[in-house]
Amino acid sequence: MRIVGTGRVHPSKVVTNHMLEQFLDTSDEWIKERTGITERRLISSERLEDMASEASRLAIEDAGLSASDIDYIICSNVINEYITPGLSCIIQGNIGAKCACVDVNAACSGFIYALDMADDRIKSGKAKNILVVAAEEPTRMVDWSDRATCVLFGDGAGAVVVSEGDGFMASRLTTQSKTDCLYYQRKLEPTPYITKEEHFSALYMNGRDVFKTAVLSSSRDIKTLLDSCGLQPSDIKYYVLHQANMRIVEAIAHYLKLDMSFFPHNVERCGNTSSASIPLLLDELNREGKLQRGDKLLFSAFGAGFTTGACIIEWTK
Ligand code: ACO
Repeated sequence: MRIVGTGRVHPSKVVTNHMLEQFLDTSDEWIKERTGITERRLISSERLEDMASEASRLAIEDAGLSASDIDYIICSNVINEYITPGLSCIIQGNIGAKCACVDVNAACSGFIYALDMADDRIKSGKAKNILVVAAEEPTRMVDWSDRATCVLFGDGAGAVVVSEGDGFMASRLTTQSKTDCLYYQRKLEPTPYITKEEHFSALYMNGRDVFKTAVLSSSRDIKTLLDSCGLQPSDIKYYVLHQANMRIVEAIAHYLKLDMSFFPHNVERCGNTSSASIPLLLDELNREGKLQRGDKLLFSAFGAGFTTGACIIEWTK
């Protein structure tokens, strides 16, 4: 498969570090130094499903296709107001497509898992044009009095359309059950029969553990993929990494002995938008004209689970 179109939508509300200082015991200096984040875009009046639908329309338009050409929709999402139906079903109706739809949740790695599924479906001949959307509002999982987590996140929706072609060079997915360092437990509706003790927790994160696991696993995935394609680190035009934290991106650049020009970033403006971060950044690169035919791009993400996903694509648009 190959990527033929991209789109993105950010929420309109910009929240700076200085705005957070007004109700949290934190500082612009602390947040910038530890994370690189200066501001983030947060959902206020928008609905995630509308943002996802608009990002999808933009990606389909960029691909030069129409909604009726899309024969499968995969939406990566961790949290939104609906448990059911899946966001992909809502997007389908909003954009006027008619195909089968499915949601996937592989935490922040979800976009790569969805791309990998799309590649399988295209290879098997079951689909020709697939819409892959990642729509996330992680700011609704955090406790807004917990300075250790709420400063990190932002919301957004990014989409790509993939079609038949030779642009998906290699992928690697890994999962290691390590559920105690990053989780969110939601309260379910009561029933007259529940006797077990139940737990509810806003997003819990052991930041140091996540940091170390992220750098190690992402570096390993990148090295494995480069080796499998017989590529050197400098053969990649851009490493489009999950935008969780600038220090994680810098640590991976250091591991690969590459300067930061290989690592585009927007975490400083968007915060961590979970699985939406890679398609959001990819769309920025595409619309700013920074991608040329034949460029090799490496995507790498990590997230709760612990899941990781990475792939190398050739830009053929
Ligand atoms: N402002 C000011 N002080 C703070 C803040 C804040 N926002 N948050 C924590 N602190 C304090 C802590 O209370 C602690 O104080 P103490 O020493 O008095 O106890 C001190 O700062 C150091 O806290 P640490 O948690 O040790 O700080 P660390 O240097 O590890 O930075 C951070 C924290 C930024 C979260 C870092 O661990 C990190 O980036 N981890 C990775 C997080 C990440 O990438 N998450 C994304 C994964 S989620 C996903 O994408 C699926």
